[in-house]
Amino acid sequence: MPDNTSSLWKEKSIVFIGFMGVGKTTIGELVAEKLNRDFIDADQEIEKELGMKTADIFQTYGEAFFRAKEKEVITYLSQQKEAIISVGGGAFLQEEIRQICLDHCIVVCLDLSWKSWKERMNLLIDTRPVLQGRSLSDIKDLFYQRQAIYSNHHININTDSLPAEVVAEHVITSIHNLQFNQK
Ligand code: S3P
Repeated sequence: MPDNTSSLWKEKSIVFIGFMGVGKTTIGELVAEKLNRDFIDADQEIEKELGMKTADIFQTYGEAFFRAKEKEVITYLSQQKEAIISVGGGAFLQEEIRQICLDHCIVVCLDLSWKSWKERMNLLIDTRPVLQGRSLSDIKDLFYQRQAIYSNHHININTDSLPAEVVAEHVITSIHNLQFNQK
């Protein structure tokens, strides 16, 4: 029997998870370029489909509507082969999304300390409805509460003070090691 385990791993899509603004899109795009794969941002797919920005979707239709759309889009994307997919920071709140991504893809969690995240917070507030109207202490609570959902992953990469290029190389090395260890 030929051993095709490694080729099955190569076919899998890679899904980036992690808190808002951790760099899922930037790192995902770099990894896609380096591996010569397509990059897909799940939130951008939702925005394209509805012709609206995420903040407007939340405001017009509410969070529950956004979450239902998010599940539909990620369920579809997770079935694609060899793609690099970035999902929103709240996607793994949904058990079905977590399960389907863990079953079908390689899930990479990008991690950042609260201290480093706080430094980029002002760049994020306007476009992230989940952060709006919350005090710093509420956001800190959310940051730590969300760590539980991000613990569902195959690979965890700490990005603190690392340039995006270096993080992307770490991701690729970790995926190679994971494939090697799974053979
Ligand atoms: C959300 C994160 C956002 C986007 C939406 C909700 C969240 O994506 O999906 O605003 O609940 O954490 P990013 O993580 O790409 O900012």
